[in-house]
Amino acid sequence: MSERRYPKAAAYSDLSYVYTQTSGPGALELTEFLAEKIPVKPGDKVLDVGTNSGYQTCFLAKEFGAFVVGIDPWGDSVERLTTNASAFNVANRVVGLKVGVPDTKLASASFDAVISTTTLEMIRGMEGDDGYRRALAEIHRVLKSGGRFALAEPMHKAVPIPEEIRPMVTTGDMPAPWSECFATLEATRALVESVGFGIIEAAEPPDAHRWWDEFGRYSPGAEDDWDVLKKDRGRWVTLGYVIAEKRA
Ligand SMILES: C[S@@+](CC[C@H](N)C(=O)[O-])C[C@H]1O[C@@H](n2cnc3c(N)ncnc32)[C@H](O)[C@@H]1O
Repeated sequence: MSERRYPKAAAYSDLSYVYTQTSGPGALELTEFLAEKIPVKPGDKVLDVGTNSGYQTCFLAKEFGAFVVGIDPWGDSVERLTTNASAFNVANRVVGLKVGVPDTKLASASFDAVISTTTLEMIRGMEGDDGYRRALAEIHRVLKSGGRFALAEPMHKAVPIPEEIRPMVTTGDMPAPWSECFATLEATRALVESVGFGIIEAAEPPDAHRWWDEFGRYSPGAEDDWDVLKKDRGRWVTLGYVIAEKRA
């Protein structure tokens, strides 16, 4: 039984399927958690950064009545989003674009909200804090004044890496070791502030560890990650979120 209830995500109860369509802890429950925090209202124009298969994008359009643009520069995301849009019956309310932050080519001040889950940390892993800041600055640029940004991603607690997991989190190239992708909540919050956002709230979601557990159990190909999570026992790996506002 969940500590919190996610009535919209509860309708998508086959987690084995949900985790083939999403690629991070929390999946649709995390999207619902963030969309309630923003809050996303019917008719809002929302940008989903790192749309992947478009499953969360279509969920936002269907369950929150938003118009959603999903962007992703890699692979066949746009094709997968189009397939999901038909399945969700929201083809008239979602658009997929094969672009990424910071080079979105989207108009300035054109979105009511931006949401991004388990994406920007990959940019940090590849391009460091400077690349992460450029991505945030682009998100700030495309938001309307007063628009809200909801970010959630894998993070690490402000403690040394436990020795049992050090070899596993400091090596690998998917696209960089976890130790280079993940930052603390405080460091992430400071970067979001550094591009001009006002912080509304920043914390670890109450279900963070249950969501990681779900990811480890259900996500195809996550066996190595699941091994790290079991060895870590909640000491270093976490998930954090930041809700921020573009101030006038
Ligand atoms: C780990 S997946 C998670 C995405 C999705 N939110 C989910 O939970 O399923 C990260 C996604 O970010 C995309 N990505 C990589 N670089 C990006 C960029 N510069 N801008 C936007 N998305 C990017 C990848 O193609 C991938 O689909």
